[in-house]
Amino acid sequence: MRFMRAAILFVHCCMEKVRGTASAATGAMEQGPRQIRAAFLPIGLREDIKYSIASAEICRSRAGVGFPVVEKWRQVMRRGAVPVVIVNGDEGELAVFKDRFILENDPHGVIEAALVAARVTGADKIFFYIRDDYKPIHVILRKAIADVVSAGLASGIAIELRRSGGAYICGEETALIASLEGRPPRPAERPPFPTTRGYFGRPTLVHNVETFFRLRSVWGSAPEPDLPVSDLLAAEVTLFSVSGRVRNPGPKPVRGLSRLIDLVDIAGGLTEGVELGGMVVGGSSGTLLPAADCRRPLDELLSGRLRLGTGGIVVFGTGDDMRGVASKMAGYLARESCGQCGPCRVGTAKAAQALNAPGRLDVPLINDLSVVMSEASICALGRNAGRFLGRLPSLLETCDS
Ligand SMILES: Cc1cc2nc3c(=O)[nH]c(=O)nc-3n(C[C@H](O)[C@H](O)[C@H](O)COP(=O)(O)O)c2cc1C
Ligand code: SF4
Repeated sequence: MRFMRAAILFVHCCMEKVRGTASAATGAMEQGPRQIRAAFLPIGLREDIKYSIASAEICRSRAGVGFPVVEKWRQVMRRGAVPVVIVNGDEGELAVFKDRFILENDPHGVIEAALVAARVTGADKIFFYIRDDYKPIHVILRKAIADVVSAGLASGIAIELRRSGGAYICGEETALIASLEGRPPRPAERPPFPTTRGYFGRPTLVHNVETFFRLRSVWGSAPEPDLPVSDLLAAEVTLFSVSGRVRNPGPKPVRGLSRLIDLVDIAGGLTEGVELGGMVVGGSSGTLLPAADCRRPLDELLSGRLRLGTGGIVVFGTGDDMRGVASKMAGYLARESCGQCGPCRVGTAKAAQALNAPGRLDVPLINDLSVVMSEASICALGRNAGRFLGRLPSLLETCDS
């Protein structure tokens, strides 16, 4: 029902725009690429569109690094070739399910934003690259794309839905592009970046599902207020995926979180008989936080080394074996490493082995692996795994004490 309402709302909004009530960016959506491109400055977006995108705090990319969206769009347009837009819905990060939540609740919102990105940058193709085992999402998106195409809102732009290659590494943008091209999904050295040389050599704009969805705040196209994703258009709202030892796990849009421990209450409290032992924050190559740190002001942690990444939070109890948890995370990374470069291939396997071995942890080995992996891996999987290992010995000590 909600899905239907979202569909109607979307088409309704677009019809309103066609009647001339749209803002600058939505105006961009109705016109053909050529007219839009003519309206741009020599490099970059037309001033009003550029200003609204650049000035919106929300327009930082959401897949982890917080890169300014407008900068990526500029890079894509700089080469003068026809770009490609990719919506990255691979969502292979451990315990993260926010993109699924968005696509379940407002697929048309993501399609609308991708269309605006395509119109503004002059792209003639949009790929939706969606995690292979999100079968219901494939059904929802197929229908939503058909709605948009049959309403004539995608003229001149081909929209294609693709199943991801089924591995964590397929979400890394250069591996994703390789997989779309029919090659093995292995990350490439950069430069060149996909924004200048991506899908079959064309400039390619890759954004996360959430980044596209949130972009809509720029041109004021909000979903219905009662949809659970409607809050996401506010810059101060973060979408966490909370799981583990809580009563009510799931996606949690949270406004201005002050301490990580507050997420436990938001998720219905700890499961019966459990005392907070710690949290894994930011997925497989994120960090492991002892309970005391979860009670510290979040701002303080973020001004140090903590990164929320894509907002994955797994809650553990004092009875949980945190070294076992770390060993599982390292094992996951070892399985998911594409094996292309030695530091990551060998390092993740050795780290998993060391964490799994009985007795005291071989801290010098873990530290050595950390340095080599973070300095010499080709892509962020190996580099982040190295950083994760570097913090691990002291964190495990704190969790034990
Ligand atoms: C191992 C690995 C896996 C990744 N998986 C995803 C993913 O599932 N979804 C995603 O949007 N980005 C993923 N990324 C980040 C992408 O490479 C890329 O930076 C991102 O799609 C850009 O989106 P943004 O501009 O919205 O931040 C991954 C990166 C690495 C290193
Ligand atoms: S760091 Fe790991 S995942 Fe990345 S290219 Fe090297 S082996 Fe592959």
